[in-house]
Amino acid sequence: VQEGWSGSLDLHVELAGGGGRRAGLERALRAAIRGGRLQPGERVPSTRALAHDLGLARGTVAEAYAQLVAEGYLRTSPGAPTRVAAGLEPPPRRADADPAPDEPLRFDFRPGVPDVGAFPRAAWMRALRRALAEAPDRALTGGDPRGRPELRAALAGYLGRTRGVLADPDRIVVCAGYTQALGALCHALRDAGVRTVGMEDPCLHHQRAVAASTGLRVAALAVDGDGAQPDALPAAAGAVVLTPAHQFPLGATLAPERRAAFVARARDRGTVLVEDDYDGEFRYGRQPVGALQGLAPDHVVYAGTASKTLAPGLRLGWLVLPERLLEPVLAAKRVYGDTQVLEQLALAELVRSGALDRHVRRMRQRYRRRRDALLTTLADRAPAMRARGIAAGLHVVVDLPDGVREDDVVARAAGRSLAVGILGPFRHAPAPGDPQGLVVGYAAPPEHAYAQAVVALGDVLASAP
Ligand SMILES: Cc1ncc(COP(=O)(O)O)c(C=O)c1O
Repeated sequence: VQEGWSGSLDLHVELAGGGGRRAGLERALRAAIRGGRLQPGERVPSTRALAHDLGLARGTVAEAYAQLVAEGYLRTSPGAPTRVAAGLEPPPRRADADPAPDEPLRFDFRPGVPDVGAFPRAAWMRALRRALAEAPDRALTGGDPRGRPELRAALAGYLGRTRGVLADPDRIVVCAGYTQALGALCHALRDAGVRTVGMEDPCLHHQRAVAASTGLRVAALAVDGDGAQPDALPAAAGAVVLTPAHQFPLGATLAPERRAAFVARARDRGTVLVEDDYDGEFRYGRQPVGALQGLAPDHVVYAGTASKTLAPGLRLGWLVLPERLLEPVLAAKRVYGDTQVLEQLALAELVRSGALDRHVRRMRQRYRRRRDALLTTLADRAPAMRARGIAAGLHVVVDLPDGVREDDVVARAAGRSLAVGILGPFRHAPAPGDPQGLVVGYAAPPEHAYAQAVVALGDVLASAP
């Protein structure tokens, strides 16, 4: 069983309860101590670190700590860190037991979530205040199904500058995240006569479900170390969804000759290429790989999202469309409804002011450090497990050695209140003989506890049979 501070992920969850944020924090800490996730004698984070991670005022955390000292849960002594009081009896726990269903995880290494503790709250509030002060009343009526012109103009500049996208604001459609954008796009493609869409195998499972729900047949497209294989795309596919910058989940970058082959196919046969650029801003070491869309803007639908750069809860994503798909997508999008206006205005201001660039630069450094710490721990503790897809993004794939099953690692991790992703569910047709691998997202654990989280994961992997 791991020692030490058990992370604020659980606190994030419980803070949502009633009675204010200080009360929520007190509840979360009491539950963590009573439940044994915080052990007697264990050090709790400094008020400053916890306040930073949770986006609370330092005084709020200090008041919550003082209350728990008064109740006997915590103890303080001058000049020493605050610790969990001794003498409280947490329930014993078997090392291999599953966490109780309502027990928050200590650390979550599943892919998909960025470090939301680093959400630029102050910059967002400034952007929102300014956007609201300046927005005309009519902005609040919604109205333009493509989204707010302020955001479309800001995105056109940002995407051109950072990702090499050729974006005309009039051909940008803002949606409630990529998921909604993909739905509207597939809907439009089906209405335009497409019957089959190719999707990488493996890929994000719920995206296959979104495509299938619009009536499209989903065909598996094989992926290797150079990304998706153009020769493997079935002749019947009228469209194909790709993750060229960082294949999800395997992590390859689409090789230049394959980019050219997909573009050639689009030009020759009218195949629509959909570029899901979900984490294109996060590339370490080398120059960022420019968007495929820049090569063939008449054939590529570029899709971006704020889910990795800012937070998935914002629900903001965008499509940059070839002219011929604009009206069909707008028509299809009516089924899905308009996109929230105030968040669009705030994001436009965040881009315009340069605050988004600053945030992305800061997070790139942070994620790079996290990735390096993870790779070092893997090399030290589990040298038989190879990590790949490490050049970009917020996750790596860890190949498991022969005889080690994904499910066994998940169960072991759960016994220590950790969650990790696995490849199986991302495969179109998982089979018992598939190579086994983990998909380790390293962005979600809170910053102050990251070192400890990686050690805990290292312990799980080192003990894998
Ligand atoms: C492969 C991939 N595409 C797109 C997205 C973004 O989806 P959304 O904008 O709906 O949050 C994610 C987020 O997890 C992703 O992993």
